[in-house]
Amino acid sequence: MAPSLPAEFSEEAIAAASNDAATPYRDLIHSKEPYRSLFRANPWMRAPKPDEDLVWGQGKYYDTTVARKHPYWKDISLPTAGKDIAQMRRDLYEWGYCLIEDALSPDQNQTIYQRLVDQAQAERDLGIAYLSEAQQNLWSLVNKGDVFVRCMTHETDAVQAGLLIERLLDEMMGSGWQHLSFLANISFPGCRPQGLHQDHGLVGTYKFLEAPVHFNTIYVLQDVDEVNGGTLIVPGSHQRYIEGNGTFGELPPPINLEAPAGTIMLMDGRVLHGGAVNKSDDLRYIITNSVVRPFIRQQESFHLTISPEVLANASEKLLWRCGFQANGQRSMVEGYGYYGSGKPGDGNGAIVHARLAMEAGEYRRIGELSPGVPPIETPTLKMIQEQHESWRVVARQLIQRIRAK
Ligand SMILES: [Fe+2]
Repeated sequence: MAPSLPAEFSEEAIAAASNDAATPYRDLIHSKEPYRSLFRANPWMRAPKPDEDLVWGQGKYYDTTVARKHPYWKDISLPTAGKDIAQMRRDLYEWGYCLIEDALSPDQNQTIYQRLVDQAQAERDLGIAYLSEAQQNLWSLVNKGDVFVRCMTHETDAVQAGLLIERLLDEMMGSGWQHLSFLANISFPGCRPQGLHQDHGLVGTYKFLEAPVHFNTIYVLQDVDEVNGGTLIVPGSHQRYIEGNGTFGELPPPINLEAPAGTIMLMDGRVLHGGAVNKSDDLRYIITNSVVRPFIRQQESFHLTISPEVLANASEKLLWRCGFQANGQRSMVEGYGYYGSGKPGDGNGAIVHARLAMEAGEYRRIGELSPGVPPIETPTLKMIQEQHESWRVVARQLIQRIRAK
């Protein structure tokens, strides 16, 4: 018979002692902010319910236009596509986004665009496509073309503004950011608008006021405007969020993004935005590549997603950017990574070795061990340590110190 619990540990006693308990942390986590305050102050920003018809001419958030035609915004100097990095820094701080003109050369743009068109069609034909009322999402591009891998490491032969993008992301979030996801968003004629949201909403109701933890890199592959669904953006909303201490008061209206093909938009994860209605007769393709501070769980599980073929040829940079460099705080495999720096190429935390062994069906985990009873099969960890973990030398010295006691 199981020993009886002390009375204070019983379900009934805990429940009785929890009535009216102060729970300020839980209250914050469940506060539904910043959307609760946003919709209270701006009811016209609420997303239409799935069975609701879209309403035009009544000031709904999705019923908007590009900045230069917008009565509220037309005389305000919002970001436009350019190549001046100093202007981009100012735009990012003031408006929460900037537009990099010709970030893709026409050839680069065409290569990516055509690859997406073909892949998206093939996935729809196979019936495996992921769609919502707002768009088709084409996930795991990392496996769907070498050009995407090269974009993920910002090679200038794939994305000519790669170095500039890396520099700005380093400045916005410190180096060591990693990919959250790399996908295409394809809006289709007659699609419904996405609700306005912050992409950093994945960190919940915690307040990130001092600096962004998430940035989106948006590849504009066709000219976009108010007709074909240029992304809805509330310029400067990241600053309103900061001023509101993680809540929102009354906000100005969103605009539709207007930008030529080949532009890349960098957007602070705190900026309110959403997919727009596509009123054209054609599909509209963009890529959204979100990057995050590395403590954030990835939207695409790159550890499981990336194909063995891509992994076998992966650069140290790709592995690093996709979360394959463990350190003592994240992504360890059976402890491997505890000595890791999290930096590219560091063998003390290169968990790709574990993944490749698993892929080959050769990975042997450590189970229950007893002194003097050798395991039936050598744990794979031991082999990985011997081959790749330079800090094992120090670990052995420490083991010896305990043995000497
Ligand atoms: Fe978004």
